[in-house]
Amino acid sequence: MTELVVLGAGGMLGRALVEHLAHHAPLAATRAEADVTNANALQRFIPDGATVINASAYTNVDGAESNEAQALAINTDAVRTIAETVKAKGGRLIHISTDYVFDGTASKPYDEDAARSPTSAYGRSKLGGEQAVEDTLPDSGVIVRTAWLYGYPGKSFPATILRASQNREFLDVVTDQIGQPTWSGDVAAMVETLIVNDICHGIFHATNSGQTSWHGFARAVFRQAGLDEERIRPVTSEAFPRPAARPSYSVLGHSGWEFHGLQEPRPWENALAEAWTRELQHVLKDVAS
Ligand SMILES: NC(=O)c1ccc[n+]([C@@H]2O[C@H](COP(=O)([O-])OP(=O)(O)OC[C@H]3O[C@@H](n4cnc5c(N)ncnc54)[C@H](OP(=O)(O)O)[C@@H]3O)[C@@H](O)[C@H]2O)c1
Repeated sequence: MTELVVLGAGGMLGRALVEHLAHHAPLAATRAEADVTNANALQRFIPDGATVINASAYTNVDGAESNEAQALAINTDAVRTIAETVKAKGGRLIHISTDYVFDGTASKPYDEDAARSPTSAYGRSKLGGEQAVEDTLPDSGVIVRTAWLYGYPGKSFPATILRASQNREFLDVVTDQIGQPTWSGDVAAMVETLIVNDICHGIFHATNSGQTSWHGFARAVFRQAGLDEERIRPVTSEAFPRPAARPSYSVLGHSGWEFHGLQEPRPWENALAEAWTRELQHVLKDVAS
């Protein structure tokens, strides 16, 4: 197998990738080791013929509304530079993208080729990254969209909700945003599936299957933690105005896996149970200390 490179290795998904792919001995670069906005750093870090996984990103969804230039620099312009470097070195790129490229107004799961129409600065910057991969690497660029990602360590919804549970009896969580809670460990496994099956182009949706609201997800996290889920109260998004619009429906279809005869993602409830046992329960120790 060709050499593997993980860019953005210090992030939540980046760490999961490095851990999951450890038996392939990937070259892992945090921002300090390879700043993706620096073409020379990429040129130095990426070996000829490598498979590069780009998990780096500007991920502050609300911050991007007032700082779109920075979001574009990392999520669009740097992705073009990564893609050009991979092209020059004869390699393959697996680029991580997001459900935010869609407008969230659908009522059935978004197909991989559904029309993209982001409603936030972050979403526009990530769409630019997808287009850069498609333009530059039509035969050796893979786009992997994920959504509602959680893992440990890292900033994620389960950690936030468990931390809040220490100080508040009741937690208000929205019922009118629907999506697929997705464990970073499963995304890493899906990326490995693409690598070992020599998938070189196309779009794949790397989310766990099924769907729920943030309210439903919060209750499931409470159940895993042995907390009383009746402490999670339903509210609508109007209760939490935010700078960036949130897609109200973010369910992604999985036909790309089926089309290639690959294993489809497992249900989010099963992934959460395993994630809890393997890593997420450590959040409880963190919040207690
Ligand atoms: N989290 C979610 O719910 C979610 C949902 C959908 C899609 N995604 C996508 O999944 C991917 C991974 O997200 P994540 O949740 O793991 O995000 P994350 O924890 O914020 O990780 C992003 C990483 O990118 C690094 N980075 C930022 N600018 C960089 C630069 N100029 N050069 C090199 N590295 C840089 C960050 O480093 P610093 O820490 O130094 O800034 C950080 O380690 C992203 O493409 C994101 O768009 C995430």
